[in-house]
Amino acid sequence: MQIFVTGGAGFIGSEFIRQAVAAGDSVINFDKLTYAGNLENLASVVANPLYSLVVGDVCKADQVAAAMPEACDAVVHFAAESHVDRSILSAEEFVLTNVLGTQVMLDVARHRKVGRFLHISTDEVGGDMEADEWFREEGALEPSSPYAASKTAAEHFVRAAARTFGLDTIVTRTSNNYGPFQFPEKLLPLAISNALEDRPIPVYGDGLQIRDWVHVADNCEALRLALAKGRAGETYHIGGGDPMTNLDVLHMLLRIVGKPESLLTRVTDRLGHDRRYAVHFGKTTHELGWSPETTFEAGLTATIDWYKANAEWVSRCKSGDYRKYYETMYAGRETV
Ligand code: NAD
Ligand code: DAU
Repeated sequence: MQIFVTGGAGFIGSEFIRQAVAAGDSVINFDKLTYAGNLENLASVVANPLYSLVVGDVCKADQVAAAMPEACDAVVHFAAESHVDRSILSAEEFVLTNVLGTQVMLDVARHRKVGRFLHISTDEVGGDMEADEWFREEGALEPSSPYAASKTAAEHFVRAAARTFGLDTIVTRTSNNYGPFQFPEKLLPLAISNALEDRPIPVYGDGLQIRDWVHVADNCEALRLALAKGRAGETYHIGGGDPMTNLDVLHMLLRIVGKPESLLTRVTDRLGHDRRYAVHFGKTTHELGWSPETTFEAGLTATIDWYKANAEWVSRCKSGDYRKYYETMYAGRETV
């Protein structure tokens, strides 16, 4: 397959590219390289002829059109502003990238006669779930944060493109991903790296918010199955199947790392903080034959090992030095 990936220098997109290239697919990675785009994540494929990079902005139709080949097999649209806390500080970039950027991608994909458009969405579009409630594909969309609102709007444009123009689209909604190469602003990489350095771990509010965790490799397997076998126009949920409170997650993490619970530090709660996400993925299991392979404890242990072995990757993220990798490794390889 020839796949046009947006946001492939980020956490999930880079795992998807590593898997796709290993499977023999050819991939064009179209990425603006915001603070979240880290080309070190793609060091293992940079010299592979199946992989190429185009630096560009999904909001700019001319840049996308110049980069996207006619009739490529698929677009996989990861590019987004992804961090909820940043959307609370300022929503503008979220509206631009997540909403306008998705609309631009849909338009260009249609004109380029792309085979299939896989849109990467999130379980956050469903908003808070009650104690015994599970978010199903047909459930109401009730986003709580500006980030989730922008992802919800994007989904509506995907649906409209399928209905109005007959574009072959699939939407996936994934729960919290974790694993290697996640930027240390999100809970798990932040908590792991702080624990390893004996620094305090911020716990928002009472820490009893519930999230569902899926390993990024399992998620990307599901995405590749959705691309290959999903039904046009459908939505597929992807999750870990074991929602846990943030405190339970952090206690497990500290036990594995061997650090004291005194590192946990209560801080002011996130505004509008959703209490519980719980994504139901029975349809994905039934139709695509997928279920998560990695148990949370095994995946967390492996992720902690990765962060221990890659302390310099973390410190380059924190210092900003990861951006130098682009200058040294990619000179002459990219199209801008
Ligand atoms: P990330 O923040 O790690 O990476 C985002 C990538 O998009 C970066 O490489 C960045 O440079 C690129 N990008 C941002 N704006 C761009 C623009 N205007 N044009 C081109 N590229 C741009 O994100 P992630 O955590 O890998 O998430 C990827 C996708 O998955 C997002 O759509 C997100 O909403 C969704 N998602 C994430 C999670 C999660 O737990 N991380 C869960 C569910 C859904
Ligand atoms: O559910 C899917 C979503 O998961 C994705 O759509 C988002 O892109 C992704 O960022 C993630 O959103 P969350 O808000 O759930 O992830 P985050 O890692 O920011 O926070 C996880 C939980 O931990 C949440 O309840 C807030 C809390 N938290 C977070 C941080 C960063 C803390 O208690 N302390 C922290 O320092």
